Amino acid sequence: MTKKYAPATNRNRQPILEILEQIIPDKGNILEIASGTGEHSLFFAPHFPEQKWIPSDKQSECIASINAWKEDCPTENIEVPLCIDVIKKLWHQPLLSRGIKVIICINMIHISPWSAYLGLVKGAKEILPINGLVYLYGPYKINNQHTALSNQEFDRYLQTQDGTWGVRNWEDIESIANDNNFVLENKITMPANNFSLILRKSS
Ligand SMILES: C[S@@+](CC[C@H](N)C(=O)[O-])C[C@H]1O[C@@H](n2cnc3c(N)ncnc32)[C@H](O)[C@@H]1O
Repeated sequence: MTKKYAPATNRNRQPILEILEQIIPDKGNILEIASGTGEHSLFFAPHFPEQKWIPSDKQSECIASINAWKEDCPTENIEVPLCIDVIKKLWHQPLLSRGIKVIICINMIHISPWSAYLGLVKGAKEILPINGLVYLYGPYKINNQHTALSNQEFDRYLQTQDGTWGVRNWEDIESIANDNNFVLENKITMPANNFSLILRKSS
């Protein structure tokens, strides 16, 4: 099995962990959407040893890499990674009985079509109980304005890669969340012009 590497995970994992440790409740399992290489799963899961960490991605090479990194985990709580594409209808159905209280999605929403965010929130609404959380991490625009020149340049780059990708506006994130019974409970400025957005299911 081949391990993939994403150097950014080494830079952002500690600041993200500090947020996760504040928001993740003591009980309930954690679903990670778009786990990518699996390096984040390996780093985060041992900090929540009593809870199951369920990694996933839509790409088979990522599933192989997550499996490879999982071998190094000092705790037993990383579950077999799932092949999940949040654009697909009913992706959430096999997860309804997995006791998931938190869904984490790091750096996916700008590197996928808008329909991926729509699918993520619709599925999260079905999976999570009231008070369940969705944690989003990445760059966002505020009032359609970039928060840094580097994000603007990154946005342009993303759109040259795929016209459906791009840095999203956080008011749009909030509006879709509200339509699906989530409230934007907190938005936290993170290093390197990123943000943590925390959505809580309200009803
Ligand atoms: C930039 S990588 C981020 C990976 C990891 N979260 C990290 O921060 O290193 C984006 C990931 O999103 C995944 N992805 C893109 N579209 C997706 C979708 N529709 N459903 C699930 N995963 C998706 C890709 O396969 C890729 O692994």
